Amino acid sequence: MVKSAPLQLLSDQVDEREVAIVLRELSSIENIHGDVVEFGCYVGTTSVHIARELMGVARQFYVYDSFEGLPPKAVQDESPAGTQFVAGALAASKKEFIANLKRANVPLPRIKKAWFNRLSPEDIPERVAFAFLDGDYYDSILYPLQLLTPKLVAGAKIVIDDYANEALPGAAKAVNEWLARYPNAKIRVEHSMAIISWDSQKASVRQ
Ligand SMILES: C[S@@+](CC[C@H](N)C(=O)[O-])C[C@H]1O[C@@H](n2cnc3c(N)ncnc32)[C@H](O)[C@@H]1O
Repeated sequence: MVKSAPLQLLSDQVDEREVAIVLRELSSIENIHGDVVEFGCYVGTTSVHIARELMGVARQFYVYDSFEGLPPKAVQDESPAGTQFVAGALAASKKEFIANLKRANVPLPRIKKAWFNRLSPEDIPERVAFAFLDGDYYDSILYPLQLLTPKLVAGAKIVIDDYANEALPGAAKAVNEWLARYPNAKIRVEHSMAIISWDSQKASVRQ
């Protein structure tokens, strides 16, 4: 059996197994029409691999980041295990992100520098088939989920990092609150990630 080469990672913000999960889920939407988004792209650790996977594929790739690092925590994010996560941590410039993708020889995605709570529906593609959410905090997961909901196509997948990470409890709280409203969204947890399948064409909303 030929062993595949280990993935080259630009930072420790995701590990090899997590990137492999993202790429596997991305390949699972091969026959579904729609674009790909990443909220929280940092230096492009995962974006490089997504962009490579999308080469020659008729989909647009959009990334969103403050490029100023994390915002302040909400109460939902407080954890004795997560004191290293503070406002301004994980700041990487847009220039650094672009340089990393150019160095990797992959096409540049559409890059939007913004705080997620300042984004509007026009900033998000009309049809989203795949989303990777890696904003770490409660609001940084919940805002993108709310923005994405009306744009998700039937069969879309959302992968959320840090769902099972006690240092970042806000991520799971945001996902669980959102899931409670959308019973057509089915969750599975693998490694520390949540993998959500948006199953139905008719999104039912619980009031
Ligand atoms: C864990 S890093 C993302 C790692 C990245 N996915 C990778 O593979 O390298 C989190 C990123 O989310 C961004 N971020 C977090 N909350 C945000 C918010 N509310 N608005 C904009 N960017 C945010 C931070 O600036 C940071 O770059």
